[in-house]
Amino acid sequence: MRKGKVGESGWYPGIGGGKGRIAWVEERERGRISGGVWVEGAGRCETQEECARDETGYDMEIKGAVALVTGGASGLGGASASLLAARGAKVVIADIRPDTGEVKAKELGESGLFVQTDMTDPVQVQHAVDVASELGPLRIVLNAAGTGSASRTVNRRGEPHSADMFDFVVNVNLRGTFYGLTLGAAAIAKTDPLGEDGARGVVINTASVAAFDGQIGQLAYSATKGAVVAMALPAARDLAVLGIRVNTIAPGTFDTPLMSLMPQAKKDELALNIPFPKRLGHAEEYAMLVESIVGNPYINGECIRLDGAIRMPPK
Ligand SMILES: NC(=O)c1ccc[n+]([C@@H]2O[C@H](COP(=O)([O-])OP(=O)(O)OC[C@H]3O[C@@H](n4cnc5c(N)ncnc54)[C@H](O)[C@@H]3O)[C@@H](O)[C@H]2O)c1
Repeated sequence: MRKGKVGESGWYPGIGGGKGRIAWVEERERGRISGGVWVEGAGRCETQEECARDETGYDMEIKGAVALVTGGASGLGGASASLLAARGAKVVIADIRPDTGEVKAKELGESGLFVQTDMTDPVQVQHAVDVASELGPLRIVLNAAGTGSASRTVNRRGEPHSADMFDFVVNVNLRGTFYGLTLGAAAIAKTDPLGEDGARGVVINTASVAAFDGQIGQLAYSATKGAVVAMALPAARDLAVLGIRVNTIAPGTFDTPLMSLMPQAKKDELALNIPFPKRLGHAEEYAMLVESIVGNPYINGECIRLDGAIRMPPK
């Protein structure tokens, strides 16, 4: 799709993807079609098919935007980084691991940049946000960095859960998400509002079904993921005046490197508990939901389970 000129006729994206004449074009590439439909990313498509692809608005939201993906070197964040880049975003991967982070950024070519970031350190997170904001309008922050833990409240030897382990998981999963959310939103707030709604961008946090169905040994993990779920609504309410949406995805069991330590037999057992599809989720399916949330301006303050209808048993 290319930018149209006033008076030019052609196919235009938008509700119905109609054919018409651009009546007015603003600097920020906003157009108005005769007939009164306002269109983001204003453009003229060469064919009706091209416009139909843009009809949902997905491409227009993502194309030309900058996305910060924490934990983007691997797994769910990695698949999302690839999809966002494929849809035209510049993607900054903020991850603690330089090896996988650099590889991922290279894979994305000119659309990817790796910034080594420990999400538990607000100075490092701010640096990643600054780098992202320098590349263009930062409109998407996906918090996917996270870690697991396994320890019972009181173990078989009668010892209480380690407070250090609890703090470690809280720092990565909760505090890290808090920094990504707050520092990211402060940067999104500085971008120009878009469209009739005055939307600036969206933050997506990653929880887990363990927020609701914590299993044996998931005390710390569930505590952090429950807190991540709980943050979305107040954050969405706080950020409403700025035109920033906040949502949470609560994945079930996905086949990512986080699960690589698990023996295949255990993965097969997990799959048996999933009603349908009877398999672990693919990271690309998580990325598809990220894309939907970015593109759908009405999803806000919500937590969406993405889990094949699994409800976790105690163990
Ligand atoms: N895989 C699953 O089944 C599943 C299920 C529910 C929730 N989740 C959540 O999804 C998120 C992504 O998990 P994944 O499966 O893709 O795991 P993953 O291990 O493949 O990816 C996590 C990424 O986070 C990075 N990371 C860890 N600590 C960090 C820190 N302090 N600072 C910056 N980066 C850090 C890692 O280097 C890694 O690249 C996590 O929050 C996880 O809890 C995963």
